[in-house]
Amino acid sequence: MAEFWTTSGLDLLVATQRSRRRASLEDGLRQAIESGRLAYGTRLPSSRSLADDLGWSRGTVTAAYDQLISDGYLHARQGSATVVGFRPDRSNTVAEATPSGTPWRYDLRPGTTPIGSFPVEEWLRHQGSALRDAPPTAFGYGDPAGTIELRTALAAYLGRVRGIRASPETIVITAGITQALSLLAAVLRQTHPGRTIATEDPGFWFHRDALARSGLPIVPLPVDQEGADPQGLDVAAVLVTPAHQYPTGVTMSPARRRSLVAWARGNDALIIEDDYDGELRHDRRPVPALQADAPDRVIFAGTASKALSPAVRVGWLVVPEALVDTVGQTQRHLLHNVDITTQLGLAHVISHHAYDQRVRAIRVAYRRRYQQLSALVSTLTESFPGMRLVGVRAGGQAPLLLPPAGPSEQDIVASAASEGLALEELAASSHTPGSHPPGLLLGYAHPADHRYHATLQALGRVLRREFA
Ligand SMILES: Cc1ncc(COP(=O)(O)O)c(C=O)c1O
Repeated sequence: MAEFWTTSGLDLLVATQRSRRRASLEDGLRQAIESGRLAYGTRLPSSRSLADDLGWSRGTVTAAYDQLISDGYLHARQGSATVVGFRPDRSNTVAEATPSGTPWRYDLRPGTTPIGSFPVEEWLRHQGSALRDAPPTAFGYGDPAGTIELRTALAAYLGRVRGIRASPETIVITAGITQALSLLAAVLRQTHPGRTIATEDPGFWFHRDALARSGLPIVPLPVDQEGADPQGLDVAAVLVTPAHQYPTGVTMSPARRRSLVAWARGNDALIIEDDYDGELRHDRRPVPALQADAPDRVIFAGTASKALSPAVRVGWLVVPEALVDTVGQTQRHLLHNVDITTQLGLAHVISHHAYDQRVRAIRVAYRRRYQQLSALVSTLTESFPGMRLVGVRAGGQAPLLLPPAGPSEQDIVASAASEGLALEELAASSHTPGSHPPGLLLGYAHPADHRYHATLQALGRVLRREFA
């Protein structure tokens, strides 16, 4: 490894390796940009002067610059200098590192929203107005079920958008669905001591883990093309994702919704409805929440993580009347309250229809991203039959099934990691890995806009290489 100060034109300190000239220049510049050492707008030496300084051919430097331009790290305009076009502190960094310790260049893992898209100014405006109008009593310990402003705004919003039957009194504010599940686990331990809960198989591993850590025994809830099927299970509750099953992407059929509710009534069981991205169907109107079919049996759980940000940490439960007191009292001891600035800010955002506008904008963006992903997969399917996207078009992730005769999911994830692309295998969602068809769960919400094309190209490269 050598370090060079270039001596003409502009100075640039960059670590390079003689044996992998282009790749090492690319890596060195990328790391310098991602770490903020080369700030947004910094002018780089021309390819000619850098090539002279390094004693390399100009083509090698140009190739490295071109790759960084297509990845969104650099900007070049005809006739003017190449500059850094990436702001690491805002929208683009992926904090964790690859197994080899370098930062991820591309990320298609599910579960995150575009980091750069939080509407800071708008949020501050709504929060400011809400706090200025709040009565002095708002700044006390408050009701552990949440502020009346947010619960009232949510009751109206959820009725209008998700078909939910709720009064503000049946709503409990949480710090997102994950916290809501720990809360419900504590409630179930009181109301159904010694009983188990069934979580979807495949299903969201993190929530399975959260429930297990809360001390509830867990059994698998089978999922087929109609959604989760609880027949034959003897459990106190099931956790389901009816609008957009995670990860298979199926929407629960009307017949299965009816049989699920009938099963719950027949077994005196509760249904916890995880509606994480219920508003974000992007090919047609979303199906109404299951809660509307059985408000006495279904605990509805929603979140602002998908439409606003997972960092804001706010969600909501709509609870059957018979459970309102127990859930509220349990929340008093677990969390007490989501902070007042978030609650009042969100109430203002919802009641001024800014939440609707944001959901609508996200749907449009995700529809476009899905189409680009789907176009890539169509070309891959021609060479590798059996590779296909499945599930409805909703939210920010889609399962990609892989030809069973090909390399293992783990091999593909490892191969992708070697070029800085983060992927998640479908097996992560299974109660028993290996028991479901092989695939990847592609989260297309995360990359910044200008990185999306390059991210899909990286995915295409990895899949072609692995299946060739
Ligand atoms: C299936 C599912 N439910 C819920 C959530 C959101 O959880 P939280 O509200 O705790 O952010 C996610 C986030 O990725 C999810 O994948």
